[in-house]
Amino acid sequence: MTYKRIAVAGKGGTGKTSITGILINFLLEADKKPVLAVDADPNSNLNEVLGLDIEETIGNIREEVNWSERTGTPIPGGMNKTEYLEYRLNQAVFEGDGYDILVMGRTQGEGCYCYVNGILKNQLDKISGAYKHVVIDNEAGLEHISRGTVGHIDLLLLVSDYSYRSIQAAGRVKILAEELKLKIPKMGLIVNKAPNGEITDSIRAEIERQNLDLIGVVPLDPQVFDYDSQGKPLVTLPDDSLSKIAIKDIMKKLEII
Ligand SMILES: Nc1ncnc2c1ncn2[C@@H]1O[C@H](COP(=O)(O)OP(=O)(O)OP(=O)(O)O)[C@@H](O)[C@H]1O
Ligand SMILES: [Mg+2]
Repeated sequence: MTYKRIAVAGKGGTGKTSITGILINFLLEADKKPVLAVDADPNSNLNEVLGLDIEETIGNIREEVNWSERTGTPIPGGMNKTEYLEYRLNQAVFEGDGYDILVMGRTQGEGCYCYVNGILKNQLDKISGAYKHVVIDNEAGLEHISRGTVGHIDLLLLVSDYSYRSIQAAGRVKILAEELKLKIPKMGLIVNKAPNGEITDSIRAEIERQNLDLIGVVPLDPQVFDYDSQGKPLVTLPDDSLSKIAIKDIMKKLEII
């Protein structure tokens, strides 16, 4: 099975965005492009890891159209609502080098968004067909996946750090995905920030208790910390950095690259 549509999820701060960014970087290097990167975490910052400045979000567009509906304000340019949404959505797809990125942004406030969401979902479906891979950085609640806004998923990478609680959180995301009947063919765990890239027997036992399929361990990498503390995009980490080597191995194992 080729994993065309890849989602990354897990507890806050475990390294989802870092891993997503590096994964995208390797897809591009392996010429598996174009890639659509979707930032589906409301505390979005995938663009920073990739080294891009982005302001427009799907959330903004949704608010804008919903506001015009509620207040009876006409849509600019004489377009109807569907046309305008399509037009704005195309604008929100930001073009990077070999990949595009879309930021979902904040989720909705008051009012009914069903119509707007429906159009967005259709448009996203249409757009995403044009890419070799879609890679989605999610929050633990899997909101956009569960609502179907980002379409189906072939591979869900659950990221945890080196702690029981975070492995348990990954276990809960897996159960959630099953309860939501998302029918994801493959779900695997990546333990990130492991000292020396190793995990103890007790961590391994917890992974088994949570019924998780361990697909890789990424070491605690001082260079990641250095880059982040200087605001340098992680995709510019050297190829021989500990985290990059480990993530590349995982991707090869999954035959993504
Ligand atoms: N392998 C690693 N080694 C060292 N530090 C890491 C590693 N991976 C991530 N980090 C650090 O952990 C912190 C959280 O990483 P990141 O933002 O990628 O996590 P996240 O799961 O996306 O967080 P959030 O839930 O806030 O979106 C960052 O400061 C990052 O530098
Ligand atoms: Mg993040």
